[in-house]
Amino acid sequence: MDLLRTKSVEASIAETVEPEHQLKRTLTALDLTVFGVGVVIGAGIFTLTGKVAAQYAGPSVVFSFLIAALCCALAALCYAEFASTVPVAGSAYTFSYATLGELVAWIIGWDLLLECLLGASVVAQGWSTYFVTFLDEIGLTWPADLGPEGSFNLAAFLMVAVLGALVCYGIKESMRVNLVLVGVKLFIVLFVIVAGIGLIDSSNYHPFVPDAAGTVGTAGGWLHAPLLQTVFGVQPQVYGVLGIISAASVVFFAYIGFDVVATTAEEARRPQRDLPIGILGSLAVCTVLYVAVALVITGMVRYDHIDPNAALANAFVAHGKDGYATLISAGAVAGLTTVVMTLMIGAVRVVFAMSRDGLLPETLAKVNPRTGTPLRISAGIAVLVAIVASVTPIGKLEEMVNIGTLAAFALVSLAVPVLRRTRPDLERGFRVPLSPVLPVVAALVCLYLMLNLSAETWLRFLVWMVIGFVIYFTYGYANSRVGRRGQLHHAKVLEGEA
Ligand code: ALA
Repeated sequence: MDLLRTKSVEASIAETVEPEHQLKRTLTALDLTVFGVGVVIGAGIFTLTGKVAAQYAGPSVVFSFLIAALCCALAALCYAEFASTVPVAGSAYTFSYATLGELVAWIIGWDLLLECLLGASVVAQGWSTYFVTFLDEIGLTWPADLGPEGSFNLAAFLMVAVLGALVCYGIKESMRVNLVLVGVKLFIVLFVIVAGIGLIDSSNYHPFVPDAAGTVGTAGGWLHAPLLQTVFGVQPQVYGVLGIISAASVVFFAYIGFDVVATTAEEARRPQRDLPIGILGSLAVCTVLYVAVALVITGMVRYDHIDPNAALANAFVAHGKDGYATLISAGAVAGLTTVVMTLMIGAVRVVFAMSRDGLLPETLAKVNPRTGTPLRISAGIAVLVAIVASVTPIGKLEEMVNIGTLAAFALVSLAVPVLRRTRPDLERGFRVPLSPVLPVVAALVCLYLMLNLSAETWLRFLVWMVIGFVIYFTYGYANSRVGRRGQLHHAKVLEGEA
């Protein structure tokens, strides 16, 4: 079995310049940064900040945001080198197919699918909490049983259904619509910071790092405690230093999406220069905003009184500023839609790329002539996201998204020194400094954060990976295009020798 067979960098690049597959190179560094910020800012800052401050870290959630940002920055440098060397759509999946071989590419593709599928579902759930809060603010009541806390989250279901229909009918991710929605989101985040500063009560910052206490998930026992603590017998705890790190592995969610910038590689005008700027630039902007929001929210409301659901809006309600809360909820409702849509499109792209390579049934990748989109994949993804978003309890899936993404980041980081060694000749527009030390550190940091996720998350992740392996070994391996091409080549060589 040849699990290490690779698709050459040249073959990947050649496919992008076939006239019928060529995308227009129009995006500038600024467009890419705006695109990145548009994908990244979402449910993470609007809902997770409050939950994590209340349950894990108190005001020191600020440090958690910085640790998660550091982890992302290390991985982002590796992504930037890859994207500037292999400027082909498909992001980490394509990079790894060119370097670490088919099996690793499959694993990364499968992880990315987890990231996008569940990420879209989580953000849809976050959207529904703000939607219901917004209706409440304007005097309307959404039936509780059909909302985020109910048994069937109809609000999230309907929202995904509408966006899914748009994705199926091939709405172009028009930069202009994106720009408007990103503008709205940025305005709301800045509004929270500016309007909130005046409402900070500095006594809420004492203690800044609450004393370590209790256990994580006492109700669920070891299953809910971070794996690291369960395995090494460390007393599980919330708050304190360990709380900060557990919180970092959860708020990591808020940064997810900057890697999606790498998927636009074929549309960048000067990918070698602009992609690194877009990836690192959007990460920098988001870090500054997140730290500021975390400081403001934990300063406005004592951490143990923060509403874990619609934290940003309800912090203003707590100060009697209901009008502000309405504005923030409306902005969140508008702003979170783009995140759900982009993540769904990301999932479609990943499945499309894997099917085109024969690792999943190639018929899936058929582009519908009327809509110009891979209709079957788009509809399938929309149905899955709608179901997951509407029936899973809120707050359960974030960690699954994180573990999938962290695993992909770790593998991409390790791929950088591998490609340097196997293909030193390729032109690299951007080089990670201090390779191989920095990429290895990046992978270790990702692994460390993964170990801080709960044992339950690890079990679910393992189940997901086992399903992936079963599909690969029963279908993907035999049907892979690269594999079939290799066999054809082999047969021709034998024929020539005969
Ligand atoms: N980073 C994205 C969000 O926070 C996934 O919603």
